[in-house]
Amino acid sequence: MSVVHAPAKINLTLEILGLAPTGFHDLRSVMIDLDLADELAVEVTPDAMGIALRVAPSDPLVPSDGRNLVVRAARAFLEARGSAMGLSFALRKRIPTEGGLGGGSADAAAALRALEAIRGLGIGDERLLAVAASIGSDVPFALRGGAAMAEGRGERLTPLAHPRPLWVVLVRPPVSVSTPWCYRRWDEMFLGRPRERRDHAPLTDALARGDAIGVARNMFNDLMAPVLDAHPQLAAIPRELVDGGCAGAQMTGSGSCFYGIAPSRQAARQAAARVRRRNLGRVWVTRTAGEG
Ligand code: C5P
Repeated sequence: MSVVHAPAKINLTLEILGLAPTGFHDLRSVMIDLDLADELAVEVTPDAMGIALRVAPSDPLVPSDGRNLVVRAARAFLEARGSAMGLSFALRKRIPTEGGLGGGSADAAAALRALEAIRGLGIGDERLLAVAASIGSDVPFALRGGAAMAEGRGERLTPLAHPRPLWVVLVRPPVSVSTPWCYRRWDEMFLGRPRERRDHAPLTDALARGDAIGVARNMFNDLMAPVLDAHPQLAAIPRELVDGGCAGAQMTGSGSCFYGIAPSRQAARQAAARVRRRNLGRVWVTRTAGEG
């Protein structure tokens, strides 16, 4: 049996360039892994066919049948390889769902990495990346991990230097946001209107210096406008995170999670305590990936 980590991600920047003919949006987004991770165990079951999945703790938002991205990724992998075999997965969920943290994508990528690592089963990096992209826009990043600039639909990745882990306070408010809804609302509000191009360089430079304050001051997310328009009460979360000691705060992905970047562990804990006192949602203190 092999066990693989499936880290959550946050988007430090997210710029929407427009709507592509595929129906997906062209993006530029700096993404980075967090310490917060699901755990996926996989076993080949020689006596059985088919793909079995157990999810713990059970959650109505996480199916354990063929709709789960772990099962879809495993099916796509076996199809790409032209093999049939029995597989049994056990998924321990820690990443909150429907939060913009890429939890489902992380689980799918973990399944692909686990299968690729089984002796004699590998399909090679290029095909693995193509299978990942067929499962979801964030799966290619989840396969590579670390920090990267994602472009296109999210599948074109350029690794970024990220020498120091940064302290992160994560908040999951009691509101779910559907990703397709969020993009549709963005279209209604902004598509075809003049917009300024975003500059990602101040953020990527700060990230490369390990400068938490520089990162925090240069974050942005184009999908925050439609979410705050529909749920204005969520604006209290970044405000309280900053008042509590974070150097900057915003939403990740299509929400509904918000996060703050803190200059120290102590500042992160203070900001977390403040958000908990105000009952704004579930709160975690975690860190971004770092090379050092
Ligand atoms: O690829 P994924 O299944 O994660 O995307 C979920 C939905 O998010 C898509 O069906 C689409 O509505 C929207 N999306 C988009 N442009 C992207 C990524 C996602 O419009 N680049």
